[in-house]
Amino acid sequence: MTVSTRASTAPGAMLEEFRRVRCALPALARGLSAEDLAAQPMTDCSPGKWHLAHTSWFFEAMILATEPGYEPVDPRFQTLFNSYYEALGERVERGERGLMTRPSLDEVLDYRREVDRRMEAWLEAGAPEGQPAYLFTLGLHHDQQHQELFLMDLLNLMARSPLDPAAYDEEPRWAPAQEARGGMTRFEGGLARIGHDGGGFAFDNERPVHRQWLEPYGLDHDLVSNGDWLGFMEDGGYARPELWLSDGWAVVQSEGWTAPLYWCRDDAGLTTMTLAGRRAVDPAAPVRHVSFYEADAYARWAGRRLPTEGEWEHAVRCRPEVFSNAFGELWQWTSSAYTPYRGFRPTEGTASEYNGKFMANQMVLRGSSWATPEGHGRVSYRNFFYPQQRWAFMGVRLARDLP
Ligand code: AVJ
Ligand code: FE
Repeated sequence: MTVSTRASTAPGAMLEEFRRVRCALPALARGLSAEDLAAQPMTDCSPGKWHLAHTSWFFEAMILATEPGYEPVDPRFQTLFNSYYEALGERVERGERGLMTRPSLDEVLDYRREVDRRMEAWLEAGAPEGQPAYLFTLGLHHDQQHQELFLMDLLNLMARSPLDPAAYDEEPRWAPAQEARGGMTRFEGGLARIGHDGGGFAFDNERPVHRQWLEPYGLDHDLVSNGDWLGFMEDGGYARPELWLSDGWAVVQSEGWTAPLYWCRDDAGLTTMTLAGRRAVDPAAPVRHVSFYEADAYARWAGRRLPTEGEWEHAVRCRPEVFSNAFGELWQWTSSAYTPYRGFRPTEGTASEYNGKFMANQMVLRGSSWATPEGHGRVSYRNFFYPQQRWAFMGVRLARDLP
């Protein structure tokens, strides 16, 4: 992401970046049917059509509609495609997004094109500066977040079909996976600088920069693999309450968890669902689709622990070259609760609801995944999910205390 919030940014560069980012989601939708893009497999997931519309609505609601006398493309869309902004009024319930058979896919794609036209006109009317420039860049990063959400949600939908459909010929990866290298690196810790420090875009939740005291620790070079996870399963990992947090054990029992999400063992052997259809579980590949509770239980079983988000950030800032798949493979669970940094101030205006109001009962994940758009991740990036959620592209990297 090259757009900055500085007034010196050339309008031409902003227009180019806008077009580059905005064409990605329609490209992911191409080749999927209107039926594929309309269904909602669970409340946490949204239909593809909704993602296409909501990311356009965001530019209308946050930028275009703030101009005096603005006429919305369709006033009804303000309710249909508002995700969670209380300040913007009524919404369709999250779990009912799959019931919106109207507007049609074609109408949503038209809506997207119209918002793009209006945004391009807005840009051409003069290079935005200050808060409007920040909201513009936020809109692009928001679109990129939804590109990944689109793929997560699509995988969940495909996994619910008895046909095990392949959404694509191959997973639409942004970067190749990196080979495991073994071992860990020791970090002395001390007073570490955590958070985003100025240059380029960051979400409000990455600010302000502050210091954290870190005791000596080790962080594994690699992510936990499917083979490692099979060791945990074969040792009764999912049947031993002493390995689990109480809330995690309750979910193991209520949901009947015995393996990562999407795993299936039958005549075809051990398989998992991917966006390219059902595939054999590769023992060497990093384990995907485990919740915080599972990651925490695994770490306890392995005699290790999850890193704090400060440990993760400090290690990857200091020695990025020693780790495999710090970025571009799977988001990595940390033991840190998603809470505000000291001095946190939400973005001003309507976008204040973007991150800050979710700062309870969720855990932070660091890094990025194979589905995270190129240039979207950062060393200070704080992703967050509830500890029982596991449909996102998430995995595990272990840490340990060192003397
Ligand atoms: C950071 C991935 C939890 O899915 O709600 C999308 C991203 N924020 N639109 C989410 C987000 C606003 C967010 N997560
Ligand atoms: Fe959103």
